[in-house]
Amino acid sequence: MKHIPISGPWVTGREIDYVADAAANAWYGNANTYTGRFERAFAEYIGVGHAVAVPSCTSAIHLSLAALGIGPGDEVVVPDLTWIASAAPVMYVGATPVFADVDPRTWCLSGESFESVISARTKAVIPVHLYGGMPEMREIQAIAARHGIAIVEDAAEAIGSRYEGRLAGSFGDTGVFSFHGSKTLTTGEGGMLVTNRDDVLARVMVLRDHGRQPGDTSFVNTAYKYKMSALQAAFGLAQLERVGELVERKRRIFQWYTEALRGLDGIVLNDEPPKVVNSYWMVTVIVDAKLGLDKTHVIAGLAARGVTCRPMFSPLSSLPAFEDHPSRARARAANAVSYALGQYGVNLPSALNLDEDTVRYVADSLRAVLASGSGAA
Ligand SMILES: Cc1ncc(COP(=O)(O)O)c(C=O)c1O
Repeated sequence: MKHIPISGPWVTGREIDYVADAAANAWYGNANTYTGRFERAFAEYIGVGHAVAVPSCTSAIHLSLAALGIGPGDEVVVPDLTWIASAAPVMYVGATPVFADVDPRTWCLSGESFESVISARTKAVIPVHLYGGMPEMREIQAIAARHGIAIVEDAAEAIGSRYEGRLAGSFGDTGVFSFHGSKTLTTGEGGMLVTNRDDVLARVMVLRDHGRQPGDTSFVNTAYKYKMSALQAAFGLAQLERVGELVERKRRIFQWYTEALRGLDGIVLNDEPPKVVNSYWMVTVIVDAKLGLDKTHVIAGLAARGVTCRPMFSPLSSLPAFEDHPSRARARAANAVSYALGQYGVNLPSALNLDEDTVRYVADSLRAVLASGSGAA
């Protein structure tokens, strides 16, 4: 039986050549050449003033919150339906994540839910572009501006997505990206923090380098060590030079699924509202609750046919990690959309090496699993 992976990159000779060059030459006086090129090209691509390469998106969120001065006593609004890395850095800085519900169509933070959890202690919001979709960014920006709340835009999964023509990551006080091996643009592990704010950049540069000013040798405070190696930056630069075709391939894969699943009742795929271009990091299916098959059944049924899937994120407020969390009870009662999607959502194989025949096989397998009604093979 053929085994179909859930995710994976598209690597060409360009990446291999750049990394080989970095391995041979990016030392001594050239140690920062690739990192600098990657950062400048990334800022230009996103359309922002500054980009800082870091070891992961998690560290980019941590740096963003620290640079924005978020700390103990502050609350940070995070959508309930996201990867734990969107919320964990809020804990690192000693602040409190407050879980808000998502919109049933975009699967991203809803403006209404965001506004309903704002308190006098709310200092930041982390809208997440789930699986490449985007929330109503204008609404979120307007609410944040009205209440003096900073925006850390979690574009980990959304390189190449657009809202009203503008690229994801360019809307917040900071924008953050992941280059984990599963992502559309990868460096193996890695991330980027982007910002238009010179004051935020200045604090980020100190916080990411053990608390010292660039070029300084005195250490006034202790801080973090969040840097990307030249070898990763070389790989990332090559990927960035191909970002158009990487995003186009993701959109093509989604198109193949749309065609292959046409007419199948009881499922919904990722949405693309008129203002948005979705980069479809993960093609995701929500199975109608009426079919009586939750995500674990569907995943087991597909696994028996050699198809590797991944469960949609479970709401953060449902995780043991947040068991004693102050907003857990309210979130569990109020965030009905996150709980409904989280129970019935399945990420389908979305690797960049997929071909149309494989997508058809996955679609036929999904049809069979739903028809069997039990998820069993
Ligand atoms: C929404 C979201 N935020 C943050 C992250 C963290 O990214 P990283 O693994 O690069 O730290 C991820 C990673 O997959 C993610 O999906």
